[in-house]
Amino acid sequence: MMIGSVGDVHGRKFLEILKEQRKMEQLELLLLAGDMTDSNDLDQFDLAIDELRRLGGAPMIGVFGNEEYDESHQEYRKRKEITFLDDEVMTFEKEGMKVKIVGTTGSLDRPTWWQRTNLPDIWRRYQLRIEKVSQLLTRDDADLLILLAHYALTYKTLVGEKEDRYSEMGSRRFESIILETGPDIVLHAHAHGGTRTATILKEQKSLEDFGKGTRKITIYNVSLPLTRSITCFDARKEDGNLHIMKRECG
Ligand SMILES: [Fe+2]
Ligand SMILES: [Fe+2]
Repeated sequence: MMIGSVGDVHGRKFLEILKEQRKMEQLELLLLAGDMTDSNDLDQFDLAIDELRRLGGAPMIGVFGNEEYDESHQEYRKRKEITFLDDEVMTFEKEGMKVKIVGTTGSLDRPTWWQRTNLPDIWRRYQLRIEKVSQLLTRDDADLLILLAHYALTYKTLVGEKEDRYSEMGSRRFESIILETGPDIVLHAHAHGGTRTATILKEQKSLEDFGKGTRKITIYNVSLPLTRSITCFDARKEDGNLHIMKRECG
């Protein structure tokens, strides 16, 4: 199954990059990592989605970015046949492959100045969101478990951004949850100037952990101005084993 992901189109701002892409006819699922528009502009959101549809007709599942304001979420849900996951989960099945997607805007370790000033309960909301996502991240009978977020899920993909801004761009509290639950593909956007991929590692911290092995998980930043392309994965089951390869979309 070919799965693509992209975030941070920001409406007209980075639309040109989408226009340069080759068609993605093999794509079977497209995951939108938020900020498809800029400053909550619904028309520019439509422009971005139309451009993605022109590239390929795969079903779209998305999360909201900070540019898609809370008060308009219902509007976005009504438009363009996209399934939005707002601390929610859905399963997508195709050709015998069951994909479970957990979607969230994500959290910030330190809310932005605007959020701190205008949303007094935001610290608590971010904390609750982390707990909710951790509960949703169960594999059950899915072949493939995906975590899709807007804000960064680690600081390691923020390298390239100003270091003193990391805590206002994501939450590294997701790292331990990711290492505990082991999603197969982990995606976020929001860090336009960050790093495309980073690996997090579960280290042996105590004697009890000894012999349990280490777990390594790669986190992908699919921010369009950074990647300059859709990020694509080929996931397939062979002899009961799951193989995931990052590859060209077209
Ligand atoms: Fe963003
Ligand atoms: Fe963005």
